[in-house]
Amino acid sequence: MSLASLDDGYTAAVFGASGGLGRAFVEQLAADPRCARVHAGRRSSHAQGHPKVVPFSFDLTNPASLEAAAEAIGATDLVIIATGVLHDETLAPEKSMRALNPAQMNLAFAINAAGPAQIARLLLPAMPRDRRTLFAALSARVGSISDNRLGGWHSYRASKAALNMLIRCLAIEQARSHPQAVCVALHPGTVDTGLSKPFQAGVKPDQLFAPAKAAGHLLAVLDALAPSQSGRLFAWDGKELTP
Ligand SMILES: NC(=O)c1ccc[n+]([C@@H]2O[C@H](COP(=O)([O-])OP(=O)(O)OC[C@H]3O[C@@H](n4cnc5c(N)ncnc54)[C@H](OP(=O)(O)O)[C@@H]3O)[C@@H](O)[C@H]2O)c1
Repeated sequence: MSLASLDDGYTAAVFGASGGLGRAFVEQLAADPRCARVHAGRRSSHAQGHPKVVPFSFDLTNPASLEAAAEAIGATDLVIIATGVLHDETLAPEKSMRALNPAQMNLAFAINAAGPAQIARLLLPAMPRDRRTLFAALSARVGSISDNRLGGWHSYRASKAALNMLIRCLAIEQARSHPQAVCVALHPGTVDTGLSKPFQAGVKPDQLFAPAKAAGHLLAVLDALAPSQSGRLFAWDGKELTP
């Protein structure tokens, strides 16, 4: 997949390069002949594996690490935020309101909404104003309020809904200074990663994407979006979702 809509020699930054989707984005961008450099960020330190890939470390809950990452990245043409949390050692998606827990809710909002907003605060203003740029945060269809018919997963759904709103606010503001910019939220489909692993039982095999396939879909969607579509939520097949 080559990002033909960006200038030849474009640079990119991927946050969450240790994740299933983030890793696939880094690999595909590094393989794009039009891409000159990919900053690949993860929590733990790591060795450089590809001549175009520049590793950096960050933690969404550590503001100083985000400032340092932004300093290292500078002005870049493409930003993909592929971080997110649905479950970890301390967090499990709620099955009912009885499971609501403030500490777990705070964690979901810190990682899924506030963290990406801080990355935007640091990187969006520095993006080039004189050419097309792309900024995308991975969201989820379950963050759509109007699409929610099953309930459950309160913190994940609510934090992704908050992310969608933040993206809308950021895009409106960015358009004033960066008329060629696209800033969107993306739903990757159900992808075979650690995040979805415990919840794959009911998913039909043809609806479970390999990370490489999902990353390819999303890069193609991004490549086709116009600045007039900035601020919205798009699925892997290019269809717009109602937030
Ligand atoms: N997989 C799906 O089916 C699916 C569906 C809809 C939406 N999405 C969204 O797609 C995005 C990527 O998910 P994925 O499936 O690739 O999940 P994943 O494999 O679990 O990757 C999640 C990434 O987030 C990083 N992360 C979590 N907390 C962090 C923190 N405090 N600081 C820095 N990085 C942190 C993880 O880093 P570590 O490796 O250090 O933990 C990892 O790189 C998420 O936003 C998710 O909500 C996924």
